[in-house]
Formats: sequence, structure tokens, C-alpha cells
Amino acid sequence: MEEFHHQSTEELYDKYVLGNYARAPLTLVRGEGVHVWDRDGRRYLDFGSGIAVSALGHGHPAWVAAVKEQLFRLTHASNLYRNRNQGRLARNLVGYCGPGKVFFCNSGAEANEALIKLSRLYGNRKAGAEGRCYKVVTAENGFHGRTFGGMSATGQEKIRRGFAPLLPGFSYGRLNDLESFERLIDEDTAAVFLETIQGEGGIHVCTTEFLRGIRDLCDRRGVLLILDEVQCGIGRTGRFFAFEQSGIRPDAIGMAKGLGSGFPIGAVWVDERHADLFTPGSHGTTFGGTPLACAAGLATLHVLEKERLMEHVRNYAPDWHEGLRGAAKAFPDRVLAVRGEGYMVGVQLAADAPGVVAAMRERGLLTVPAGGDVIRFLPPLIVGPEGLSRSVEIFHEALTATRA
Ligand SMILES: Cc1ncc(COP(=O)(O)O)c(C=O)c1O
Repeated sequence: MEEFHHQSTEELYDKYVLGNYARAPLTLVRGEGVHVWDRDGRRYLDFGSGIAVSALGHGHPAWVAAVKEQLFRLTHASNLYRNRNQGRLARNLVGYCGPGKVFFCNSGAEANEALIKLSRLYGNRKAGAEGRCYKVVTAENGFHGRTFGGMSATGQEKIRRGFAPLLPGFSYGRLNDLESFERLIDEDTAAVFLETIQGEGGIHVCTTEFLRGIRDLCDRRGVLLILDEVQCGIGRTGRFFAFEQSGIRPDAIGMAKGLGSGFPIGAVWVDERHADLFTPGSHGTTFGGTPLACAAGLATLHVLEKERLMEHVRNYAPDWHEGLRGAAKAFPDRVLAVRGEGYMVGVQLAADAPGVVAAMRERGLLTVPAGGDVIRFLPPLIVGPEGLSRSVEIFHEALTATRA
């Protein structure tokens, strides 16, 4: 095949890559720890983690060693056969989730598809042969991925625009407004499906009171409670799952992103009472749960525990949040709120979040824009006080530099 050395990366993208992203003008070539480098050798503190993925940072030695070892041993075999890594990772996840079983896939959207299918199987069983129990109530402003199921579950018009007709049966309650959910549940409702902390929607946290109320509501109405922990899970908040703070347990959980710390993997956990809804032939994937992906998942969980990263996040997050709030105080008419938990923080600006994101990038800090003029700070879980303070300084400098 011809090599295109004479064409720049920009030209290759312009000419050959579909235009469904408004990308930052940056070409990354290398990562190590909490840093990434562009092709000109400039170093950036990676407070985006590739959208909450690189939990262990870049090139963690234990993760690299585990993936490399498995890469040479066996990378793929399909789900026609067992592989030990998949069994071990499922067991580890059950340890965090509670008694139940796990299905592996490759992304957050795929995890959510499996969860929506679970809700249909549950509804069909509940309603019997002639019933039509298939509805799902999700939250306004949520985000559950770009497949048809994911888009249908996503309570944001801008994500769904242009793709009608979507799946029937989805409706959207207001986050932290229990009554709005109660009103939407009827006898045809199979599930309530929520992000514990809304990510793409701009970092909005479900309150403990709301989660407990929703759990109780679902129990009373015989409806599944499914939590999407794709972005907020796997240690990001300082707990393995963000919902743990509330003391509730959902009936099913979707995971992805941080689970492989950079290797694509998604997973669904289903409570033991509902685990038999999936029977042979009812769902599947060629790539899900390969020995290689599960080696990455096992290494991620191993390092998370061995280096006590959740404790680390719990220890350092409060001062960091304080620092961000302090920087925000200097610009009260521009920074409206600092929200979030652990290493998942959203800064709500009055306007021009993209301008501030760009100004931080120019000063060596990568962050992620979210809905409604919010900037997300999603550092690798390994980042310590030095990197956290530096992010506060750069945030302050960027706000100063973009002052009108
Ligand atoms: C909460 C949530 N669910 C689902 C998804 C979709 O995941 P993926 O992009 O891996 O399909 C995302 C991605 O941002 C997410 O944040």
C-alpha cells in the first residue's frame, strides 16, 4: 500500500476521516504517566484521560506488562470458547457489584444496548405473553451513547436530531426530582435507567436522597433500576462506583471507559435475581471479553487496589476542589459553579467554555468540554497534589487570559 508521507496529518484527516468531530488542533504522539506529548514535543497534563478512560495514566508498567504478556500468548478466541481472563475479571467485578453475573462487550454504548435488551427481557417476563412492558424512563440531559438504543435513552435533543425514528418507549424525568420519575412510570415500564453522575450533560450528580428514592420507587413498582457508570465508575469518584455513597444497589450496571484504562472494554453486571434473563442466543458479540481486553481489565483493577488509587482520589480531591473553587471565586461573573466528586469535576461557565479549554490547552493542560458551557476535569486516578495544583494554576491563568 502506498504511504502518504507527503501529506500532513491535517490533510489526511481533512481528506479521509469523516467529519463527525470538531477536533482540537492537536496531534498526540506519546503518553507517559499523567502527561501526553504532541508531535512538536510539547507536553500536556492530561486532565481529559481520553474522556475518562486512562485511569492508570499512560503506559503504566504493570498494565503494559500484563497486556504485552497476553498479546503474545492469546489475543482473541471468541465467545464460542471460555478464556480464563474473562472468568477472572467477571469474578472481580462481581466482588465490587454484588452477587450476580457479567457480560463483556467493547464500549459504553454496547454495554447500554445490552442493558436495554435486559429491560425488554425483564418486561416481557413480567407482563407475560400478551403484555407490552417495554418502557424505560431515563433522565433529561443524560447521555448513554450513540447507538439507536443509546440515543433513544439520551435525554438531549441535540444528540437525537436527524435520526428519527428512534426506539419507542423512552421518556425523560428531571434529575433529582423523584416525582417527575414517579409520574412517568406506568404498568408498561420495565426500567429506570440513569447515570449516577451525568458526564456529557455537564457533571450533574444524583443526590443520595434521590438515588434512595428511586431505588424505593423501582422496588414498589416492580421496575428495574439500571445505572450507567460508564463515565463515573471504576474508581473515578474515589469509590469503585459512584452510587456506593448512597448505600443502594441497582439491579444492573453498565461500565466501560476506565475499566480497560485505555484498552477498549465494556461490561454489564446483572443482579443474580435477573441474571438468567440472558439465555444462550439472546445476546452476543464477537470481540467482547477477549483474553487481551480482560488482561487489560484485570491489570487495571489490580493496580487500582495495589496502589490504593481510590483512597488516593478521596485524599487529594477535596483540596483540589477547594483550589478550583478558589480560582473560580476570582471570576464570580464568569464561573457559575464547580460540581462533581473525586476526579470527576465540571466547571460551569457563563459563556465561552471552548475559549477557556483552548487557553488551558495552550498552557499545557488538556480538559474536556461538556454540555452547556461546562469544562470537565477528568484526570487519571494516579495524579497527585503537584499535578492537581498545576491544573488550578492553569485554570486561573486561562480565565485571566480570556478576560474580555
Ligand atoms: C455515561 C456514558 N454512557 C455511555 C457512553 C458511551 O460510551 P462509548 O463512547 O464507549 O460507546 C458514554 C461516553 O461518553 C458515557 O459517558
